[in-house]
Amino acid sequence: MISRNVILAAVAAASLSALPVQAEQGDWIFRVGAANVDPDTESDRIDVAGLATLQGVDVDDDTQLGITATYMLTDIWGLELLAATPFEHDITVKGAPIDAGSTKHLPPTLTFMWYPFGGKESNFQPYVGAGINYTYFWDEEVDGELEAALGTIIGSDEPVPADLDLDDSWGFAARAGFDYMINDNWGVNASIWYIDIDTEATIKTDVANVEFDVEIDPYVYMVGVAYKF
Ligand code: NI
Repeated sequence: MISRNVILAAVAAASLSALPVQAEQGDWIFRVGAANVDPDTESDRIDVAGLATLQGVDVDDDTQLGITATYMLTDIWGLELLAATPFEHDITVKGAPIDAGSTKHLPPTLTFMWYPFGGKESNFQPYVGAGINYTYFWDEEVDGELEAALGTIIGSDEPVPADLDLDDSWGFAARAGFDYMINDNWGVNASIWYIDIDTEATIKTDVANVEFDVEIDPYVYMVGVAYKF
């Protein structure tokens, strides 16, 4: 009985209070949550010494802490920066049970955002945007399985020691998402990016360097909380 009365009182209070005011010019919106980078990889074949080819590489997904900061230039136009803790991806050889290695990366992304409900009263705050991404790769590593495969390809019993280098990438980013605001300041958030990340990979050995293009082109999914002030 008590709990029912409490619920009725809460419903009455909620229906009396005004809906949250949406983003307005000069507001900051911070969002924090779990961000999953899920590559949709397309890779060139890897030609090794003209002797044989590997089919290319696949890049697996990774989840890290994502943070976005948005500044509202007007009631409906905002500028958003995506930051995150470093992502780490395992890389495998396509079509073969061979681990190729791994890389770390950070994909800071700046997007120009449209908030169609900006300045209005509403719980629901959708947004879309477009912008630019810079992806920085570091700590690229080659797995012993790939080094052994390289040895086999050139007819050696010994693995071929190798290093991996991935060029940094500049590319287009598209963006959509929404907040569901509980009050003027706090809400829950879900959003998605599509990011065009293309890199040239180089496998360096004492014998030769092998270069091939990889399109990582991930979707990035983020779920978390929003704080607006
Ligand atoms: Ni691409």
